[in-house]
Amino acid sequence: MSLSSCKFINIPIFKDKRGSLSFLQSFQNIPFNIQRIYYIYDVPESVIRGNHAHKNLEQLFIPIKGCFDIKLDDGSESMIYHLDSNDKGLYVSSMIWRQMFNFSKNSICLVIASEIYSEDDYIWDYEEFVRSLDKS
Ligand code: TYD
Repeated sequence: MSLSSCKFINIPIFKDKRGSLSFLQSFQNIPFNIQRIYYIYDVPESVIRGNHAHKNLEQLFIPIKGCFDIKLDDGSESMIYHLDSNDKGLYVSSMIWRQMFNFSKNSICLVIASEIYSEDDYIWDYEEFVRSLDKS
């Protein structure tokens, strides 16, 4: 997959005097079937998370609280996305190398995933990631 398949997705907000509500629904405002949700928090300032690619997994990253950056790399080009608004999520397709960093204090990153957790879906070595792209 190339970087052009990754994009920001707007998340609806229902805001009234009682507060705000946002929702995510498979194939409605998320381009895949939701199979798993996890969240990342308490990340120390200098930490870089991720450093891997996924063979099949598609994900949506949402800064539920605070902000952070995600660097995406498709083997030919890379781009850094700043996530700072909980009404905008970043869709990341399969076979994209990612790094998450610059987590603000008390930030929470919600991740919506298209597959259940599988260790076999991870590629941990960047060179192996690039070699797998050549083969596909
Ligand atoms: P990891 O994928 O390394 O996190 P990140 O991409 O943010 O760097 O996951 C950290 C640990 O959590 C690792 O031991 C695997 C485990 N884990 C699960 O058991 N289930 C999950 O759904 C996820 C995402 C991780």
